[in-house]
Amino acid sequence: MNEKKSVDARGMKAVILVGGPGMRLRPLTDNKPKSIVPVLNRPILEHTLAYLKHFGIVDVILAMSYLPDVIREYFGDGERCGMRLTYCLEKEPLGTAGAIKNSETYLDSSFLVLNGDNVFTDMNLHDLLAFHLAKKAKATIALTWVDNPSAFGVVETDAEQRVKRFIEKPPLSEAKTNWINAGCYILEPEVLGEIPQGQHYMLEKGLFPRLLDIGKKVYGYTYKGYWLDMGTPQKYFNFNMDLLLLKTKSPLIAAEETNGVYYSKDIDIHPTAKILAPVLIDDGCKIGKDVHIKGPAVIGKGCVINNNVSLEQVIIWDKVNIGQHSRLNRCIVSDDTTIAENQDIRNSVITPSRTVPLSL
Ligand code: GTP
Repeated sequence: MNEKKSVDARGMKAVILVGGPGMRLRPLTDNKPKSIVPVLNRPILEHTLAYLKHFGIVDVILAMSYLPDVIREYFGDGERCGMRLTYCLEKEPLGTAGAIKNSETYLDSSFLVLNGDNVFTDMNLHDLLAFHLAKKAKATIALTWVDNPSAFGVVETDAEQRVKRFIEKPPLSEAKTNWINAGCYILEPEVLGEIPQGQHYMLEKGLFPRLLDIGKKVYGYTYKGYWLDMGTPQKYFNFNMDLLLLKTKSPLIAAEETNGVYYSKDIDIHPTAKILAPVLIDDGCKIGKDVHIKGPAVIGKGCVINNNVSLEQVIIWDKVNIGQHSRLNRCIVSDDTTIAENQDIRNSVITPSRTVPLSL
């Protein structure tokens, strides 16, 4: 059992890892860093920042390497989101541990680390910190339960939840536990001394096994609530659907946005269009005559959905144009895509340059 004691995470600093290339999310990350990929029309990283702010964590270091300018342009100094953001840029990707080492000058007490551009959870960070402090841990790894751990980093613990072993992607028959690394950690600054400077070094394969080897206290905090790694287009699709179907909630999204049909500003909807909730439509969209939209569905800014189009379970990003009489079912459509008339597309990820199956 996790030990619960009232502790407040307010004031704790957080390092968010946003430097991965997001290979598994391709083609959605062909031209966009993963942290800017929209979830209900807002970058995933903005959801992560809102989650931290919900727990009073506002000092955030963004550890970046891939397409950093796009992230910096969107978030600036963080004031708009009520955060204080510091950017730590790697010339070459330094890996998950190397990136934290690169932020060392800003870290002087227990700090949180998050895989900020793919993991979404509603875990209580006050409870996580309370557990870390009660165990006097040097590193605490949040663990989440999955039915099939074979695609993940499995973490074995003893009866006191002290970590015994890490096993990367074990075959199902060999996995001794279903608790996996949830991509959320609390670390003490002294562990940074075990990370080589300026080298590519990973948490799971480098730092954590090293801490076990030298006898440091590493604990696993178990959590069975909502957790999702939106690392693939399928998982990304599921995540948006889960939010619209209220299976989980982001502190960034007001209740009315996921409760029925929600239109933003300047929407032009033909009176004959039929829209079945839950549907979220962003600014400046034009929805034509006899269009049918069946939720859960999300439509980004400035889209044109022409006459007689039928959409069901779709995630459409910004400035998409869908030609008359086309039908889309279970599709993700990225920015600036034009779909011709009379198309019938299912289970696909559609970008301006290619269409691939959604079940990648
Ligand atoms: P894939 O390429 O699809 O595996 O995704 P990824 O590497 O972007 O993400 P992965 O889940 O493997 O990485 C976990 C977290 O660490 C994510 O939040 C990544 O953005 C981040 N990350 C991975 N490598 C680096 C790195 O070299 N530097 C920094 N700053 N972050 C990294």
